[in-house]
Amino acid sequence: MSNTNENKNPHEKIEKNVGLLAVLIAVALSFGGLAEIVPLMYQAEAIEPLPGMKPYPALELAGRDVYIREGCYNCHSQMIRTLRFETERYGHYSLAGESVYDRPFQWGSKRTGPDLARVGGRYSDDWHRVHLINPRDVVPESNMPSFPWLAENAVDPQQVTRHMRALKKLGDPYTDEDLAGVAQAVEGRSELDAMVAYLQGLGRYAPKGN
Ligand code: HEC
Repeated sequence: MSNTNENKNPHEKIEKNVGLLAVLIAVALSFGGLAEIVPLMYQAEAIEPLPGMKPYPALELAGRDVYIREGCYNCHSQMIRTLRFETERYGHYSLAGESVYDRPFQWGSKRTGPDLARVGGRYSDDWHRVHLINPRDVVPESNMPSFPWLAENAVDPQQVTRHMRALKKLGDPYTDEDLAGVAQAVEGRSELDAMVAYLQGLGRYAPKGN
């Protein structure tokens, strides 16, 4: 071709310059991302708590920390999809507003065991205690690990207070009374008590019915 540089069309310039091409591809993709993400930031139903919803009480907050520490999320999701076979098994599909006080959220998709988003009230406290210490005692075919140490570890009130204070700074509506009441709420309780309280509270704010 006898074309000189001046005559090249702009597209050809871009195609022959890998660095420029990469930058422009990134710009094009980010427009797609923004179009999906930005509207969500302004949708009330996605960012506001459901009516009447309160942040986790002290003991449940402690249980939630243990849930994360023990990696329960590796086998359990907390997100019911909008599919009929899911809602028939677990209950109403999960709403974004149910998770506003979950930091980090526990949605997940890995289900070696069942989804736990609505497990609260499905079993008695005693069932959970036996199940967590040795799942085989209540579900003989279970391959869930045993967590016997939870019964021996005490909840540390100071740690829960610090956690609650941090959440308050992030905007969770804990009151000064909530903070002052932590010690009393968790004093003398084991991690097993905390875990059972947390599990029994899951799905508390779920809409009723399917
Ligand atoms: C290696 C995978 C695995 C891990 C880790 C695990 N589970 Fe499970 N879990 C299962 C399986 C499988 C079942 C179904 C059998 C049974 O009920 O034991 C189950 C069942 C359950 C159930 C009963 C749910 C229902 O609707 O019947 C609860 C509650 C539960 N797990 C809580 C926990 C908690 C809390 C932890 C963390 C301390 C945990 N699991 C860790 C695999 C796991």
